[in-house]
Amino acid sequence: MSIAVCPGSFDPITAGHVDMVRRARQLFDEVIVLVAKNPSKEPMFSPEERREMAEVALMGVDGVKVEILDGLLASYCQDVRANAIVKGLRGPADLENEQAMAKMNRHLANLETVFLLSDPSLVHVASSLVKEVAAYGGTIRGLVPINVEAALKGKLANNRL
Ligand code: PNS
Repeated sequence: MSIAVCPGSFDPITAGHVDMVRRARQLFDEVIVLVAKNPSKEPMFSPEERREMAEVALMGVDGVKVEILDGLLASYCQDVRANAIVKGLRGPADLENEQAMAKMNRHLANLETVFLLSDPSLVHVASSLVKEVAAYGGTIRGLVPINVEAALKGKLANNRL
């Protein structure tokens, strides 16, 4: 059975992430969406909130499970005997960031990273931009799953209280 791990901050999961996971699932028997800590980012949502949002957003996709990573991605992939890491690329800036991590994971655990080019209709969708647009009252309809839209509005309303 082939296993892919899709790691990311997923703060929160976007329509672009959902598309990437669905497409990864067409290539691998099982996809593990891994909510991980990126040391260079301060998340808006807790790991548990991010996992729950991803679980609900991906409920209709079989062969997908969502886990939280507390540690090194390469070690996790070895533990679950993953065949590859899958990540999405929206453009050259993503590649710039991703290639250092891909090389490091290959160095650490001989792990290959498979890159899927983002759907052209979703290249502008990034969790950070979605949060910024929502914070200024802009519409995020279609950029994130409907449960995430509600969670984001709730979080922003609470933060303002
Ligand atoms: O969605 P992001 O923020 O681009 O994802 C980056 C992430 C979380 C996948 C990366 O920071 C990561 O792998 N974190 C886990 C800790 C780890 O293994 N760091 C070394 C990466 S080579």
